[in-house]
Amino acid sequence: MPNTITIKEKINNFNNEIIVPGDKSLSIRWVLFSSIGTGVSKAKNLLMSDDVIAAINAIKKLGVKVSFKKNEIKIYGKGIKGFKYKKNLKINAQNSGTLGRLILGLLIDTPFPIKLIGDKSLSKRDFKRISDPLSKFGANFKLKNNKHLPLKIIGSSNLNSIKYFEKKGSAQCKSSVIFGAMKANGTTIIKAKQSRDHTELLCKYLKLPISIKKKKKYDEIKIKKVSLIKNLNYDIPSDISSSAFFIVLTVLSKNSKLIIKNVNINPSRTGIITILKKMGAKILFKNLQIYKGEKKADIEVKSCDKLKAINCPAKLNSGAIDEFLVIFLVAAKANGISYFKDLGELNQKESPRLKWAEKILNNMGVKTVSTQDSIKIFGNPNLNIDKKIIIKNYLKDHRVFMASVIAALSFGGKWTIHDKDSIKTSFPNFLETLKKIKNNKRD
Ligand code: S3P
Repeated sequence: MPNTITIKEKINNFNNEIIVPGDKSLSIRWVLFSSIGTGVSKAKNLLMSDDVIAAINAIKKLGVKVSFKKNEIKIYGKGIKGFKYKKNLKINAQNSGTLGRLILGLLIDTPFPIKLIGDKSLSKRDFKRISDPLSKFGANFKLKNNKHLPLKIIGSSNLNSIKYFEKKGSAQCKSSVIFGAMKANGTTIIKAKQSRDHTELLCKYLKLPISIKKKKKYDEIKIKKVSLIKNLNYDIPSDISSSAFFIVLTVLSKNSKLIIKNVNINPSRTGIITILKKMGAKILFKNLQIYKGEKKADIEVKSCDKLKAINCPAKLNSGAIDEFLVIFLVAAKANGISYFKDLGELNQKESPRLKWAEKILNNMGVKTVSTQDSIKIFGNPNLNIDKKIIIKNYLKDHRVFMASVIAALSFGGKWTIHDKDSIKTSFPNFLETLKKIKNNKRD
């Protein structure tokens, strides 16, 4: 089967209801929390994508048993001190920054060196942002070029609490330090720029010794050493980041409507909704519920012919960080010039996404002006593409692939998009879901 996809036509109007897979951030966190919990944890609707499978393989290497049965997966937790550290352990985080970074927080007590490796994309990403704070607990690191994978971690049996100021708005950095703090003596104090707070909510749900004060610009998190974590049964809601592709497809299509069922709408993840609504999109949350401290709802979205440009407030960035590739497509069709700033972190993802976004937009005939961390997009409400576009060599970034598919279906042109397999990272049935939408078939 060729690993490319060609798209030659825009999508016709649709009116449909879909379900997208489980949330990736919650799935990886469930695997990690369950591995240090005591007793059997069960999950339903766990995202079975390569990132999450890599997390499962990682905890198995640490001696944790995992079993699968239909839609239910069980992890036989070993307790906070239960990992079996063997000599010459190697963990492969593959493409997953979340796994690679979060798991290091749990490994800071390993008596033997553990090697952490990843794929080509992950090996280009910054791990110093994790080794710096975790070293302060007392763990030791050796990184390639002082910054990259492969790295080696050697832990310590005498870990001290730390004070840590997280300034990037990175939930991965914050979460890794929270995991480290669970194993360190005393109280760790984290001052963190706001970012997704699933780790904190899970700590609270599990009644771990954590306190969180929401301040104006930062959260102040205090966490003490943990002696026992109970098991964690979880029914994972759908992923808003996977939903985002179809939300944007609907906004950009004519006379269409889509309902996406049972999506996690944690307010630290709904930046895309706030941004698109400011641009004029019609999006509603229905059947709102709270599940284990997290909000979830059905998302209803309708087409919009009159989109307005946005001067996007930087405070919305972290809540939409994985969605900018598709948000930029909406800006391409909006009336006026949109401006997105303080987006340096976008170039720290699976590929340098700010650069890729600009390349794709320019290929589509959209004018942009950019700096290292900002982009102006000159929108055109009549944008219609009538040329060949080839998307390749983008470090197999799953979101670049899916955003390109949405661009092709929304604006036309003859697209060849390489590395279809990249969707296995976060949304293995992306193309099947798209087919259902196209054929107006319901889940
Ligand atoms: C994630 C945090 C974000 C996000 C990533 C998932 C998480 O990364 O981009 O896809 O689950 O904690 P950063 O923490 O680096 O911003």
